[in-house]
Amino acid sequence: MTAPHGVAPSILAADFARLGAQVEAVMDAGARTIHVDIMDGHFVPPITMGPLVVAALADQVHGAGGILDVHLMIERPERQIADFAKAGADNITIHAEATPHLHYTLQAIHESGCTAGLALCPATPVLVASDLVTDVDVLLVMTVNPGWGGQAFLPNSIPKLERARALLGPEPAIEVDGGIDVDTAGPCASAGATAFVAGTAVFGAADPGAAYREIAAATQR
Ligand code: DX5
Ligand code: ZN
Repeated sequence: MTAPHGVAPSILAADFARLGAQVEAVMDAGARTIHVDIMDGHFVPPITMGPLVVAALADQVHGAGGILDVHLMIERPERQIADFAKAGADNITIHAEATPHLHYTLQAIHESGCTAGLALCPATPVLVASDLVTDVDVLLVMTVNPGWGGQAFLPNSIPKLERARALLGPEPAIEVDGGIDVDTAGPCASAGATAFVAGTAVFGAADPGAAYREIAAATQR
């Protein structure tokens, strides 16, 4: 199993009336991680989507050699792992703030056949992950507060990414999520990030495929 990697378009910002075409556009441009934001109206105020949307995209994304990166912004995620794995998730990321049973839930994700991610809100220190380093395939450092697309990148994320990379060592993937665009992706890459979620900067652009390529190029500089 491959952990999230490269620029990962977030469908939260896509046009849901033509979701398949939007995903096709970014995968044709080279995207191989498609990010799906699940919100429950409790952990964060909005309600977005559930396993049905993951299942609707699974054949298309897998058929093009991609992975579905499911970001659970929900309370007590341990109760939902099986449904998302069954729907076709490849990576499931849970929030450190969403359950007292992080180790158990990360194990359950692995047992379901998926790679496991741990997400940290801006106020959550990277040390929360220190006893879970061997249990996570990707550490998601939120670069905005979770819940909404279109927010400004938090500059304090850069030193936090450096601390995360120092804690994890060179191997595990580090993903950034929120306010990622051509300007912020490069500094995140330099600070240790290897996966870059981008919603508005990709699907808010006139040409999402071109926007994907520009952000991907910015991570290589
Ligand atoms: C925010 C979500 C993000 C969101 C990012 O809570 O986790 O994945 O889609 O959106 P942008 O790229 O617009 O900041
Ligand atoms: Zn997300």
